[in-house]
Amino acid sequence: MGRCEDRVTSLFLHLCLLFFGRCLCKEQINLCRPSHRTDDGDGLCARLIRPLGYPCFEHTVQTKDGYLLAVQHIPHGRGANRGNYGPPIFLQHGLFEGGDAWFLNSVEESLGFIFADHGFDVWVGNVRGTHWSHGHVSLSEKKREFWDWSWQELAQYDLVDMVAYVYSITNSKIFFVGHSQGTIMALAAFTQLDIVNMIEAAALLSPISYLDHITSRFVLRAVGMSLDKMLLRMGIHQLNFRSDFSVEIMDSLCDGHLDCNNLLSSITGDNCCFNMSRIEFYLEYEPHPSSTKNLNHLFQMIRKGTFGMYDYGIWGNLKKYRHLHPPSFDLSKIPKSLPLWMAYGGNDALADVTDVKHMLMELPSKPELLYLDSYGHIDFIMSTNARADVYENLIRFFKSWGWRSSF
Ligand SMILES: *[C@@H]1O[C@H](CO)[C@@H](O)[C@H](O)[C@H]1NC(C)=O
Repeated sequence: MGRCEDRVTSLFLHLCLLFFGRCLCKEQINLCRPSHRTDDGDGLCARLIRPLGYPCFEHTVQTKDGYLLAVQHIPHGRGANRGNYGPPIFLQHGLFEGGDAWFLNSVEESLGFIFADHGFDVWVGNVRGTHWSHGHVSLSEKKREFWDWSWQELAQYDLVDMVAYVYSITNSKIFFVGHSQGTIMALAAFTQLDIVNMIEAAALLSPISYLDHITSRFVLRAVGMSLDKMLLRMGIHQLNFRSDFSVEIMDSLCDGHLDCNNLLSSITGDNCCFNMSRIEFYLEYEPHPSSTKNLNHLFQMIRKGTFGMYDYGIWGNLKKYRHLHPPSFDLSKIPKSLPLWMAYGGNDALADVTDVKHMLMELPSKPELLYLDSYGHIDFIMSTNARADVYENLIRFFKSWGWRSSF
């Protein structure tokens, strides 16, 4: 089938509609609508994905609360498209990451490229506040209100609205893959919302819900000194590690308490297969900004041991939720019929094995599990061995669920 990039004529579209009906032609129609497409400019497609020989198109998704998110579409791998799109897959990055996180190693090592080369129709999410997203319909990024959200909004708005967008274009159930914060967003959204009906199967890398057994020395120290509350009191609502101020904070956190020569390990746990000689390249893309309120919400979970909504304090909670305490996300509401696959690591200082087991006990279903003793938090997306260790298993799982006869 032709596509609008190939200058599809309106005649073709009319014929398409006539012979195949609206659903099959929908993607072409949507792709041709300028409001859904974004000028390429300096997007992730132009910077990182297309130069490596993959087709890549930028889309913009507007959330119900007005944020403009970038979503990249890689419809197939290197080489010609044989005319059929494979099953859609949606990749959701973690905290301080952006959609680039799936593409930062070689094409043979990076999950985003591997899925495309396996024939999946790949869609890449980018949450509000990341470098690739496009701001807000009315709020400037300089405004405090722009940063007034935590992962709760990322689950309820960003994830749901991006997945619904992909669903509306592909007209097909979607495979979901999340890493870290991407898994909190998914687990929270799957307990509450219709989004489950749009998901074929979900894979969670470094799954996070409960956080009270976190062992990250860096994070525990930051929790101990109430860094989140301190920043909020100082009126700092955006967390951007590229600012001078953040560099100072990191220094003060490290001063005498942590071995910050090994900063990454002190945050994420020891990663078995991190390519140190690539770190300058990684730093061209990561880390991405997030909100201080998001950090505050995560620290609340560490302090309280709950998987719940943001705690506004008693009066705020009464106003917002009509309860003294914020409601929990009830994992037992995730339908048993949703196929789940999870990979977690013995050296992961953020998704601790005890917390993963706590979450598993509350799920009605028995997810397929892959445990890797030597894996730290970042290994699941950055390990130079992840293809053999993790991704082949994951792809086998997806293929066993949704590879319909047409593919
Ligand atoms: C590690 O990174 C370097 C620099 O980008 C690269 O040349 C090398 O192939 C990478 N090693 C592996 C095992 O991916």
